[in-house]
Amino acid sequence: MTAKIINGKDIAAKKRIAIAVEVKKLKSKGVTPGLAVILVGNNHASLTYVKSKEKACRELGMNSLLIEMPEEVSEEELLSKIEELNGDTKIHGILVQLPIPKHIDEKKVIESISPLKDVDGFHPINIGRMMTGQNTFLPCTPYGIMVLLEESGISIAGKNVVVVGRSNIVGKPVGQLFLNQHATVTYCHSKTRDLKLHTNQADILVAAVGIPNFITAEHIKEGAVVIDVGINRNEAGKLCGDVAFDEVSEKAGYITPVPKGVGPMTITMLMYNTLKSANESIDR
Ligand code: GUN
Repeated sequence: MTAKIINGKDIAAKKRIAIAVEVKKLKSKGVTPGLAVILVGNNHASLTYVKSKEKACRELGMNSLLIEMPEEVSEEELLSKIEELNGDTKIHGILVQLPIPKHIDEKKVIESISPLKDVDGFHPINIGRMMTGQNTFLPCTPYGIMVLLEESGISIAGKNVVVVGRSNIVGKPVGQLFLNQHATVTYCHSKTRDLKLHTNQADILVAAVGIPNFITAEHIKEGAVVIDVGINRNEAGKLCGDVAFDEVSEKAGYITPVPKGVGPMTITMLMYNTLKSANESIDR
């Protein structure tokens, strides 16, 4: 079997067109969605991500505000900036780019963002809402994965889903979203014994471990859907995922490539969440 490619770039482009239409409608009512992004320090990868978020805002007609703070900024200063943005009616989404320097308490920072503007979906209140299936901001990468499957016509109820990786940003929440859609979910991680035993049962496998080519053909059931969340560089410096694409795509039914798979969906869902926040602000 040769897997069908799930083209995240095309699906993201389609979703962005729909978002731009909604932004226009909202602007005609006098509200322009606004996203504030806080970048602390000079992490090169973070700067690239933040610039992409600004560009996406511009392309969709939203306002973006980039706040750059030096590596040595105090926790107090950062919290005070977030407090100011919480009260700014022109700002509908607040995102603090992670990671932040070690002298600042990440939990405190996440919890200081108003849950009404937490477009990352990282605030414990919003995580609780997601777990109990309430209206909330869903974390962007997990949400993007669910949209990729929906747009590809892949059903979820009753399927065996195996998530490899248990980060707060991707692994844990994506498993929860699958559970909310009636899948049977297994989490695997670095302490899992006999990984293959689990992954070979997967109708849908999500790889989110951050290790190049970690998932190989022997981990995959024939015809499975394989979602690769990894963004790594191999020894040659080339961008690659957590899945050994060439061999796995010979066995899987569907597969997301890297790049042009999950990646483009993350920022798209961030734009969607910012639009949602702006829309909901009208009714308050
Ligand atoms: N760093 C890596 N991914 C993310 C993300 O989705 N949100 C934030 N705030 N920081 C990140």
